[in-house]
Amino acid sequence: MPAKAPKIAPNQTESILLTPRMRLRPPRLADARAIFETWGNDPVVTRYLTWVPSRSVVDTEVFLRGAINRMILGEEHSWLMTPREGPGTMGMISAWRENQQAELGFVLARSYWNRGYMTEALQAVIAWCDAREDIQQVWAVCDIDNLASAYVLEKAGLSPQGLVERWSVHPNLSRQPRDCLAFARIFA
Ligand SMILES: CC(C)(COP(=O)(O)OP(=O)(O)OC[C@H]1O[C@@H](n2cnc3c(N)ncnc32)[C@H](O)[C@@H]1OP(=O)(O)O)[C@@H](O)C(=O)NCCC(=O)NCCS
Repeated sequence: MPAKAPKIAPNQTESILLTPRMRLRPPRLADARAIFETWGNDPVVTRYLTWVPSRSVVDTEVFLRGAINRMILGEEHSWLMTPREGPGTMGMISAWRENQQAELGFVLARSYWNRGYMTEALQAVIAWCDAREDIQQVWAVCDIDNLASAYVLEKAGLSPQGLVERWSVHPNLSRQPRDCLAFARIFA
């Protein structure tokens, strides 16, 4: 088996991923307005997520500052999904690091849904995680009613791990923690 690549520093150059239709790159503060306008303020997109829709670009800037700081600390890797050619802000994927594991989270603007974009992007991110010596497993949870997300996680190569009861608060649905479905892939 070929040796895995050495640990990759979380800097902005090495984290750019190309897929057949997309370029995934680290987000920047300057992306705030486009993110706010394309999905950050959309109550349909955020329905099952752990955050409420942003009310202003400033909310999105605060969110991005947090993500960028965690990237600098090596706690998180995030990729903004853009068309491979030309402008556009399609969505975002994050991998939050803890020990040898990375938890995946993802969001896509509504106008891009159901065209295979998230499956394609997740596959690239999962391959990137697999190539790193310091990540042995990727996992994700989604709200029990978020069937599109559950389906995408399986299509991207994660295996269902079952139900985790009262796992996560999804404030657009309830103040109480919601049951979630868990998915994981352990790298050989
Ligand atoms: C979940 C999400 C990322 C999916 O992205 P996407 O690019 O549309 O996903 P894909 O096109 O790769 O695959 C979606 C699949 O789910 C299916 N699907 C969509 N809605 C569905 C539903 N309500 N029930 C069952 N299947 C559904 C689609 O038909 C498609 O399957 P197909 O490839 O066999 O046609 C996107 O809908 C999204 O961003 N939702 C809001 C944010 C979110 O929920 N993020 C996940 C948090 S855990």
